[in-house]
Amino acid sequence: MIRFVHDFFDTIKYLDLARSNMVAAWPHSYYRREFIHLKFAHKNLFVLNRPEDVQRVMVSNASNYRKSLANRQALKPILGKGVFVSEGKLWERQRKIMSPATHRSRLGGYARTMIEAGQEMIEKWDAMEENAEIDLTEEMTLLTSDIITRTMFSVYLRERNAQLYQAFQDYLASHGRIHISELIGLPSWLPRPGQWKGRSAVRSFDEVIVSVLEERRQSNDAHDDLLEMLLEFRDQKGEPMTFSLLRDEVASIYLAGHETTAITLTWAFYLLHEHPEIKERLWSEIETELGGEAPSYDAIPRLAFTRAIVDETLRLYPPVHVFSRQALGEDALSGNRIPKGSFMTISTWVLHRHKLLWENPEVFDPDRFMPDRSSSVRPFSYIPFGAGPRICMGKHFGLMEAVLLLALFAQRYDFTLRPGHPVEPLGRMTLRPHLGMPMTFKRRV
Ligand code: HEM
Repeated sequence: MIRFVHDFFDTIKYLDLARSNMVAAWPHSYYRREFIHLKFAHKNLFVLNRPEDVQRVMVSNASNYRKSLANRQALKPILGKGVFVSEGKLWERQRKIMSPATHRSRLGGYARTMIEAGQEMIEKWDAMEENAEIDLTEEMTLLTSDIITRTMFSVYLRERNAQLYQAFQDYLASHGRIHISELIGLPSWLPRPGQWKGRSAVRSFDEVIVSVLEERRQSNDAHDDLLEMLLEFRDQKGEPMTFSLLRDEVASIYLAGHETTAITLTWAFYLLHEHPEIKERLWSEIETELGGEAPSYDAIPRLAFTRAIVDETLRLYPPVHVFSRQALGEDALSGNRIPKGSFMTISTWVLHRHKLLWENPEVFDPDRFMPDRSSSVRPFSYIPFGAGPRICMGKHFGLMEAVLLLALFAQRYDFTLRPGHPVEPLGRMTLRPHLGMPMTFKRRV
């Protein structure tokens, strides 16, 4: 085990780089190191790459760690007290109320909506000229946004979809960077540069979220979805959830439940473009297993290679590329003392490409996730959905959505990246392709 204490100037340099692109900022040496200790202004920052340490912080001693300010500050203006950022009793209660919405027993119904929405996207693309260019990140985001609101809130966004998309893009532009002050735990009242720009984005976002809520509150139809679970809740005193908390939860599920899957699909099609031999194998699986039929919930177990492509995409390009936690009390990790108040960073970008954990970590090799080889993946070396009590609530939903839509679109189209377009992963709030993913498509059938 190697332990490094960096000096003040190294740390400043790193934090400054991290502000513009977190994934590009990780020093090369971190991909070999297991335990990194940075000290800055009397604050302790640890970067964890040992699966055992990841397990302790995220799972077995999770109650000693809370989501740190860096997580909460960037999202608070848009998510308020929603489940993604809340802590303690409130988080526990809200997670319990909402969890049934993503239970496996509901997935079959969601699968039908996903395919239906995907086919509507195909109709739109089919109406375009052959070789027209689309930005895949944008198209996938509009699609998954449509799916999350149809499945969780039984609402069709229609023209409001574009407004939400734009509002969130503007929000990301102003709030997407992780601020130095937050990484080292400075108080949240410090002004954030550019923050004012995000205010109108939050207002525009809010307008749509509130309209979704109002639409449902005024509807007399019976619904069996996540929003109904929130609306029907009564606490011990018989009080319903406050409007402001309802708003925060709708915003949280909406955001957590669509952007990540959209990015996963975008990176998957990029990787397939770069690896024609893998794309051929995907086509062959789709042809053999679906025989021209649209993918469906029942077909998922037969789409093993499609699923392996999704898993491997999430390894190389994890949409949530960094977890940050703060120690509430003292702890010990691999024999090192972790003082109370320390900031813990787990970068899935680094962990998933770590040289001591993966064979040929830079190589896109979906076979490592095929059933005969997947046992070689060490527990807690691969955590695209997090782990422990705060593990993604929509893991099965998101995985299913990515598999179904990847199969649906690969069955119908061959996508080509705009020649010469620079593809650079940009690690901000999520891991997106900087400058988008402009692609043309050819119909295959
Ligand atoms: C490929 C798609 C997805 C990925 C990679 C992903 C990843 C994650 C990760 C890594 C976390 C944990 C963050 C942390 O511990 O700091 C998380 C939390 C969460 N995700 Fe997902 N997610 C995906 C799709 C979804 C979907 C489809 C939904 C909703 C249907 C969803 C809802 C949530 C919620 C509510 C949380 C907060 C859980 C809590 O704090 O208790 N996610 N997600």
